[in-house]
Amino acid sequence: MSLKTLGQFIIEKQADFPYAKGELSRLLRDIGIAAKVVNRAVNKAGLADMLGENGSANIQGEVQQKLDVFADEQFIEALSRGGECCYIASEEHEDGIDLSTLVTSKYGQYIVCVDPLDGSSNIDLNVSVGTIFSIYRRKKESGVIESQEVLQYGREQVAAGYVIYGSSTMLVYTTGKGVNGFTLDPSIGEFCLSHPDMRIPKQGKTYSVNEGNYRKFPQYIKDYIKYCQEEDASTSRPYTSRYIGSMVADIHRTLIIGGVFLYPESSAYPQGKLRLLYECNPMAFIIEQAGGRAISNTCRVLDIRPTHLHQRVPIVIGSADMVGKVEKYLEKVDILTATES
Ligand code: AHG
Ligand code: MN
Ligand code: MN
Repeated sequence: MSLKTLGQFIIEKQADFPYAKGELSRLLRDIGIAAKVVNRAVNKAGLADMLGENGSANIQGEVQQKLDVFADEQFIEALSRGGECCYIASEEHEDGIDLSTLVTSKYGQYIVCVDPLDGSSNIDLNVSVGTIFSIYRRKKESGVIESQEVLQYGREQVAAGYVIYGSSTMLVYTTGKGVNGFTLDPSIGEFCLSHPDMRIPKQGKTYSVNEGNYRKFPQYIKDYIKYCQEEDASTSRPYTSRYIGSMVADIHRTLIIGGVFLYPESSAYPQGKLRLLYECNPMAFIIEQAGGRAISNTCRVLDIRPTHLHQRVPIVIGSADMVGKVEKYLEKVDILTATES
């Protein structure tokens, strides 16, 4: 495959993008630049005093790692400087960051929701971590950003993607015309097209859930996990269990070989743990664009009405047939509940 950089690819595909041509290119370029800086820090975290806790907590009361804060700073810096982004909703900030008052960004048309570093608990363990981003176009031409411009449905995203800082560093994104993956070539410092038109298999052999929470799951999830573990050669079960604990890494594996990832509601997290705006919506957009599905109880993730920046939702995402199977277990509950009431 001849070398095609992310920049060349975006310019080639600009015709697919319904808005002013250069804007998205610059926005994705800015994200790519921040990703390269974060990648450099992740790769040498152990040498640059970047491991461990930052001694503070984020809005959700979760201990911030040094790399969480560093990554957040890099994406905010790159997006503020680029001029295309007028507002950032970041996992690391309780309130959004309104850039529309900056001279450089006051005509910016894009709102970016970002999880600067996903899988923080794995940083010191040298396990893959990532960045997840979701891009909306603002509703008004200019002026103060209003909450209804930020809290848009996932189906209104104009682009979404993730970076996985793993054995190789990849950037995977969609603008609604399929999913493409780019691998960072450190020798030239460019993301190069390595996975054109990514498609998720309709069926896989892997289920991915934190089984340590088994006791806290609703019965239908327990029943589905037992189904995955039953012998049945005709459905290649028992399935393999794989759980990395970084959403980006678990979803990337699911996209490549198929499978299903579940972070359900539980007695510990009644609304689920993962955040709608900067984890579930972008991943749902990507997986749907690759031919998979993403649901949250009986609702399509992209159809959930957002109510606040750090809203958590349960999620089941991956191969269409496997998500459909989980849905069947959920429907049984609904039928049972309906007949009991
Ligand atoms: P973050 O590091 O951005 O807070 O995200 C961590 C998330 C997600 O990456 C992963 O799927 C999930 O936490 C793992 O949670 P458990 O450790 O509870 O399984
Ligand atoms: Mn995360
Ligand atoms: Mn994070």
